[in-house]
Amino acid sequence: MASSDNLSICVEAPSNIALLKYWGKSDATLQWPANDSLSLSLNLHTTTTVRQAAPNTFVVTDHRGQGGACYAKPQSFLRSLAAQLSFTGGLSIQTTNQFPMACGIASSASGLAALTIAALACWTASHSFAELADHGFDRERISALARLGSGSACRSLFPGFVHWQRGRSASDQRVYRLSPPDDWSLRDCIVFLQRTPKRVSSTAGHELAWSSPLFKKRLELIPQRLAAMLAAIDAGDFDVLGPLIEEDSLEMHAVVASSQPPLRYMIDATEHFLSAFRSLRRREHLSAYFTIDAGPNVHIIYLAKERERLLRALQGYDLLDTGTGFGPRIKTSV
Ligand code: DP6
Repeated sequence: MASSDNLSICVEAPSNIALLKYWGKSDATLQWPANDSLSLSLNLHTTTTVRQAAPNTFVVTDHRGQGGACYAKPQSFLRSLAAQLSFTGGLSIQTTNQFPMACGIASSASGLAALTIAALACWTASHSFAELADHGFDRERISALARLGSGSACRSLFPGFVHWQRGRSASDQRVYRLSPPDDWSLRDCIVFLQRTPKRVSSTAGHELAWSSPLFKKRLELIPQRLAAMLAAIDAGDFDVLGPLIEEDSLEMHAVVASSQPPLRYMIDATEHFLSAFRSLRRREHLSAYFTIDAGPNVHIIYLAKERERLLRALQGYDLLDTGTGFGPRIKTSV
């Protein structure tokens, strides 16, 4: 535990949007995904401040100090992280998002990534990633620990395009940043169709994936799609990447809809928007493609240079437009 009693550490971690979805797990305890996934880290962050607390006490609240059911998962994750790493110092954590929670904008990704970094920094009195690495927690190891809190959180340790490789075993997983051409920049315009939290968590959806007759077929199709998406990112070819992003998202939702019992994250407004968007795209010749996570809202992924045209075309909708941002940052104060 940190030597200074008043050490306070503030961490910002980005949300990410999956372009190739992580859906279904081969091992839920080890958080071993059924397939590789690809994501784009966004300029939307969770900010988490951590302070020392009484031994083995872990409290997570919002920035006003208010707790709630949504903090049960981070709280129990902290407890198990401390036990796993033999840290006995308690932590008091305040966290806030730049975006609404639990409605299909990976708040668990940025939240659990920020929480893991902040807790490790406080336990080891580290003021930077370099100091964390000196204590044995390099970015890869932090990513693997964050994954145990929420799978998608492992991708939020890196900026830009990120590949979470499934590997041949749970211990063989790897998460790393891809290198698209320097001048290639994508943005994400989130179209809110509902701002209230979803009723079924993604964790619950993952569990049902294997019950869908389509899931095995999806797993067979993914390696080819992954290879095509990696090549398109490498070449900066959005005309190839975009349709694959849509195909993958619709396929994930087909698995969701055919699970036993069937689930539905999209709402009627999502379907209506998709059909309006397809017409708009045709009419305006927009190079923009949609993807939908486990929630009702739609992410429009597009080339940064098309921003003005895209925003004009989507005028009237409830939008949150964002670019790709920096990776996680550690700020400390004593
Ligand atoms: C649809 O990472 O939220 O956003 O590992 O159970 O915490 P747990 O699930 P989570 O699942 C994210 C699912 C997704 C697709 C993705 O981000 O790849």
